[in-house]
Amino acid sequence: MKKYLVIGNPIEHSLSPRLHNHWFKKNNIEAIYQKKQINENDLKGIIDEIRNDKIHGVNVTIPFKQLVIPLVDDLSFEAKESQSVNTICKEKNKIVGHNTDINGFELALRSRGFNIKNKKIFILGAGGVVPSIILSLKKLDVRKIIITNRTKTKAENLKKFFTNLEIVEWGTTPDFDMIINATSLGLNKNDVIDLNYEKIGSNKIFYDVIYNPIETNFLLKAKKFGNKTENGKMMFIYQAHQSFTIWNKLMPKIDDETIKLLEND
Ligand code: ATR
Repeated sequence: MKKYLVIGNPIEHSLSPRLHNHWFKKNNIEAIYQKKQINENDLKGIIDEIRNDKIHGVNVTIPFKQLVIPLVDDLSFEAKESQSVNTICKEKNKIVGHNTDINGFELALRSRGFNIKNKKIFILGAGGVVPSIILSLKKLDVRKIIITNRTKTKAENLKKFFTNLEIVEWGTTPDFDMIINATSLGLNKNDVIDLNYEKIGSNKIFYDVIYNPIETNFLLKAKKFGNKTENGKMMFIYQAHQSFTIWNKLMPKIDDETIKLLEND
């Protein structure tokens, strides 16, 4: 039986096993997908297990998407561009790191019919997923990307890789068409993000990368003010879909049953 893993710390919130095990079953693939909380010094052992065919594929999440890069033999174009790896497997005896978050984000926006060409985008956070989101936004031809992070130096580091980013102080609310919460604020139900909702007005797009809980306070409040909202569920499904396709050379179905799998929490 083939073995797959999602590694991270923390990892309890991950619904990846639910999704991948569902697709394995639907496609009659004898495999199991589990989640594992690890520490940084466990990373090399995991890569060795892929090399020795004990593990057949790994998804990487917070906080290891960058840390795993020196341990793999090769990076896909997207992983190299974003310096971020969320999917690993062995290909022709080489351990290859892929990034499926970039396409995942784009497909999620497309699936909702959000057209952000020439729009002004405001990103909260500068953590692991943000380089992928920025690359996706650039592909979608947005006009301007403004970024803010509690620790300003991390936003400034991003500016070294992505020119034309505008940085604003944490706690300020600039004018935008779409705002993206890419911080971990919201993973706890009581978390709130300090934003001037009156100033923002209505009819803006509020996007939260978080999908569990389904509706963070960030989205709840945005809705009350008449904005469009979207959580990270479709991005999560599309990135998983692409990982599954890389590993199994087979595209699983995304239907109502798949989407419902992530809703009964
Ligand atoms: P990492 O920072 O290791 O890449 P991440 O989960 O990918 O981890 O990113 C967490 C993001 O949420 C960061 O932007 C973090 O801000 P800092 O860089 O200042 O740590 C942000 N974040 C987490 N807790 C926060 C809080 N209580 N207030 C504001 N931002 C927070």
